[in-house]
Amino acid sequence: MNVLIIGNGGREHALAWKIAQSKDVGDIFVAPGNAGTGQECQNVDLAVDDFQGLTDFAKKNNVGVTVVGPEVPLCLGISDVFQKEGLRVFGPSKAAAQLEGSKVFCKDILTHANVPTANYQSFRSAEDAELYLKNRYPEEDHGQDLALVVKADGLAAGKGAIVCNSRVEIVEAISRIGRDKEFGDAGNKIVIEEKLAGAEVSILAITDGRTIVTLPPAQDHKAANDNDLGPNTGGMGAYCPAPSVDEDLMYWVEEKVFVPTVHAMKRSRQLFSGVLYAGLMLTPQGPKVLEYNVRFGDPECQPLLMRLKTDLLHVINATVDGKLEELDSLEWDARPSVCVVMASEGYPGKYENGKVISGIDEANALEDVKVFHAGTKLLSGDVVSNGGRVLGVTALGDTIPEAKLRAYQAVRKIRWDGAWCRKDISDKAFYVVEEEIG
Ligand code: AMP
Ligand code: GLY
Repeated sequence: MNVLIIGNGGREHALAWKIAQSKDVGDIFVAPGNAGTGQECQNVDLAVDDFQGLTDFAKKNNVGVTVVGPEVPLCLGISDVFQKEGLRVFGPSKAAAQLEGSKVFCKDILTHANVPTANYQSFRSAEDAELYLKNRYPEEDHGQDLALVVKADGLAAGKGAIVCNSRVEIVEAISRIGRDKEFGDAGNKIVIEEKLAGAEVSILAITDGRTIVTLPPAQDHKAANDNDLGPNTGGMGAYCPAPSVDEDLMYWVEEKVFVPTVHAMKRSRQLFSGVLYAGLMLTPQGPKVLEYNVRFGDPECQPLLMRLKTDLLHVINATVDGKLEELDSLEWDARPSVCVVMASEGYPGKYENGKVISGIDEANALEDVKVFHAGTKLLSGDVVSNGGRVLGVTALGDTIPEAKLRAYQAVRKIRWDGAWCRKDISDKAFYVVEEEIG
């Protein structure tokens, strides 16, 4: 079966690499892809929102299934367009993708489904939000030290949630989203919610809308610098499994989060099929859902797929056909995996592209190491940087520290002008364990 993968990040390279191991796969196309997918598969020069171009390509090239990586095409309705053209596609419909595309929609579903989440209110204008703030939290009762989270309703490349620790910050956040339109139309509605405290974990599940297959927990590292300092990024590394999530918690998340959400989506005639990614905060009152994503996380996908032994194409096909129930349990490598993101100088701020990268082959030659490309492209035979997050160097090891050591051994083989990475990916696994013991 020929497969088309949509996207150009580390997640899509990992999907292509894993699908290439299937005994049933034919040609793998990646649109638009990166240098890594170009070397291992066939890149197609089409943008992720060129639905006409992509459906024409899929038909001409006898594509049996299309796998959509990023949220933007999903929220724009790529799955509906493919289905209308009679093409099989892995990823939720436009209606179901609102779980990520609209925080108000997500909050409404969570509330209807009785899934624990932060208390919230939504507003159609900055004025309404300000009025609420004034009436609900009067200055004479609550003073200046008020902690709330202000969010743009729509997609904002992970930047639309502003965690505020004072009244001044809240008022500023409302204005940035609702008046200055810092996140464009994503700010047409504003959500204000209580600020929660606790450790964050990502738990992903694959569902066909009826059966739910939960994947091992992974932990992202959102902050740019070591010890979770510095500005937020798309994710500087991840590891899997996350020891802070034990079997009881996994069971709880299945029962109290995934099952009611998937049922609520079905009941509201917006059947959810694809990857459901729950961002959770483990609060003293129990876990609460911070957000849903409707796709694999990037970089969480890289360490996750490194451990998957089951044929991913079979899982994808069973999901698309609504037959997940018939699939055997997924098999996982017992060894943990760690993915270290190597980034361009300046990221997540301004950075330059086009730096020649060396040492990828030497890194890949290490045992149980795979270098997934993200922001790279091929230029006159060289692999050059072409984005903020450039590579996801991923390794398996008998323990998390061994996987970490191997990943960083591989990182040291790779060079380009300005390359950098966090040095503490996966150390969190141990802080959490220590905290629990202490
Ligand atoms: P979101 O876009 O909703 O996932 O939020 C992005 C990040 O903001 C999360 O990963 C959290 O670190 C933080 N965040 C979001 N909502 C809350 C909340 N209610 N309380 C505390 N932190 C939050
Ligand atoms: N790693 C976080 C995300 O993919 O949204």
